[in-house]
Amino acid sequence: MKILVTGSSGQVGTNLCLALIQKGISVLGIDKRENTWTDQIPFMQRDLAIQGMPALAEISAENGEVSNPDLVVHLAANAKVHELVKDPRRAHENATITFNVLEFCRNHQLPIIFSSSREVYGRPNPPTVSEDTTDVFHILSPYAAYKMADEMLVYSYAHCYNLKYLVFRLSNVYGRYDGDLERMTRVIHIFIDQMSRGEPITIFDRSKTIDFTYVDDCINGLMLGIEKLVNGEVANETINLSSGNPTTLFHLAETIAANLSVTPQIIDKPIQPGEISFYVADLTRAKILLGYEPKIPLEEGIKRAVEWVKEWKPRR
Ligand SMILES: NC(=O)c1ccc[n+]([C@@H]2O[C@H](COP(=O)([O-])OP(=O)(O)OC[C@H]3O[C@@H](n4cnc5c(N)ncnc54)[C@H](O)[C@@H]3O)[C@@H](O)[C@H]2O)c1
Repeated sequence: MKILVTGSSGQVGTNLCLALIQKGISVLGIDKRENTWTDQIPFMQRDLAIQGMPALAEISAENGEVSNPDLVVHLAANAKVHELVKDPRRAHENATITFNVLEFCRNHQLPIIFSSSREVYGRPNPPTVSEDTTDVFHILSPYAAYKMADEMLVYSYAHCYNLKYLVFRLSNVYGRYDGDLERMTRVIHIFIDQMSRGEPITIFDRSKTIDFTYVDDCINGLMLGIEKLVNGEVANETINLSSGNPTTLFHLAETIAANLSVTPQIIDKPIQPGEISFYVADLTRAKILLGYEPKIPLEEGIKRAVEWVKEWKPRR
């Protein structure tokens, strides 16, 4: 199998590409910046918003193994909700990137896996959230609005051009290759970093309840999707991918503190604009269609994440 992965220098992209390579699958990553963690991923540097996807001839020249790809996994995006509230042009850019990747898929009749987000649900109510409950009137942020728009563009390409797709709605993926604090501001690594240095942490709403996903579970779900889409077993489905376990930010902070053997000093602040306050996925569809089962509970995932942060730093 031969796969193009956009956003290959990001957290999910790095983990996915390394997992694919480990399985003997040929991969070419495409990203606008170099990978700061590993040089094991064959890679083309490309700004997909400005330059669009490379031609097949360029891809072939870069990595002959993927000259005729079977699939595109499209992960590239400006991916931080709060940053995009501050600068919505970066959310708008995400739509251009997705349009360019979809055009590439249309021109070469390639199936696509698109990484959407649980943000498309807006502010749902307990208990769990199933895929059919998106409510476009309650989209909370420009990031979410463009993820929804990207999804709709994917659905329209399926309808008009017979594009085969799987859309995965991810939720707070954490673990390896997400600790580059200068670039990203993700809650688990901020908490680990600040608590390790004896600094107070800020919690924007202690009771905020979300579905954190250990990265191996996310990658396992994506790998199942890749296999089933390429084999023609499952296509044109939108699937929640997460742990299915509700966790409050307060419990998250306590769990990290226990792993670092510290007592957390907490500054409480109200929830930030654009942020959701509740999300727990209904994983029925992922289980039925893909045989997906999340395996890593939060306690184990946080233990691994803390250990990983102690050992790993970006290469540059
Ligand atoms: N990680 C999560 O918790 C999570 C949750 C929901 C959805 N998602 C989605 O999954 C995907 C992957 O997320 P991630 O956590 O790996 O994000 P990330 O920010 O770590 O990686 C995204 C990558 O896309 C690249 N990129 C951005 N703009 C680009 C452009 N114009 N041209 C080429 N590359 C560009 C970035 O350089 C980056 O390496 C994103 O689409 C994100 O919105 C992630």
